[in-house]
Amino acid sequence: MKTVATRGELRAAVAAARARGARIGLVPTMGYLHQGHLSLVDAARASADWVVMSIFVNPLQFGVGEDLERYPRDLARDTALARERGVDLIFAPTVAEMYPAGEPLVRVVAPTLADRLCGAYRPGHFEGVLTVVAKLFNLVQPDVAVFGRKDFQQAVLIRRMARDLDFPLEVAVADTVREHDGLALSSRNVFLSPEGRGSAQALSRALRAAADVFARGERESRRLLSTARAILAAEAGVRTQYLELVDPDSLEALDAIGRPARAGDTMVVAAFVGATRLIDNVVLT
Ligand code: PAJ
Repeated sequence: MKTVATRGELRAAVAAARARGARIGLVPTMGYLHQGHLSLVDAARASADWVVMSIFVNPLQFGVGEDLERYPRDLARDTALARERGVDLIFAPTVAEMYPAGEPLVRVVAPTLADRLCGAYRPGHFEGVLTVVAKLFNLVQPDVAVFGRKDFQQAVLIRRMARDLDFPLEVAVADTVREHDGLALSSRNVFLSPEGRGSAQALSRALRAAADVFARGERESRRLLSTARAILAAEAGVRTQYLELVDPDSLEALDAIGRPARAGDTMVVAAFVGATRLIDNVVLT
């Protein structure tokens, strides 16, 4: 495995792999790797011969007052984990390397979809995500790029970007990897206090409970939401930012469009546990 920090080295390594006839997989990350990230490497490996992982804490997707400065970073540890999991190339650029002319003037925007859910609380966040992912797509030109369902809205937006802008690649979305008690793995979980770690488990428990009620036949979104809301409300350490049941394509709340729930609809939650913002979701089946 090799690690490169410049776009030139990345393009050269990609060209060499392409010349060997390799099918190329891309796994974009912000590092501080956990088993969720590493499961994406497995998914990429399943349909690619050569896997590139990018590790870049993208300032463009952090808002003022968010955790850009304290976002956890450990490239040495990430490199060891990625090598062990079978990554072929790590691309770990500096901010100046990714944005040599400063903040990019031309960006990818997704009105409506990017303004809902997390976008409503993090203005500009998805513009930053889509712009950096578009750059990575152009730099690596992968055959397949893999993202996690944990970041549900992000995955929906990236799929839509690839379709709307004709990126010639497959966007694959892999299932959420969880701790034994259900908490979705996240680089930000390291910020949780022992007490907060206990409270955080309520997010997945609430979603699971709603999914179970759906599986037993409940189709009214109001009832499905109140099942989850009751569990969140009972956990004093959790401050819910939003809890919604949405259509997986339009991200519209079922409440707003007035239709009953059906399989594939997704319940999404964002909540603060202490100062740490966590997100999770469940697909109704
Ligand atoms: P990051 O939060 O590092 O996540 C990188 C990828 O790992 C994303 O596709 C995310 O959905 C996935 N992931 C995170 N936790 C997961 C879990 N528990 N199970 C499965 N997959 C998980 O998401 C980003 O970085 C950035 O926005 C990025 C796409 C890299 C653009 O900067």
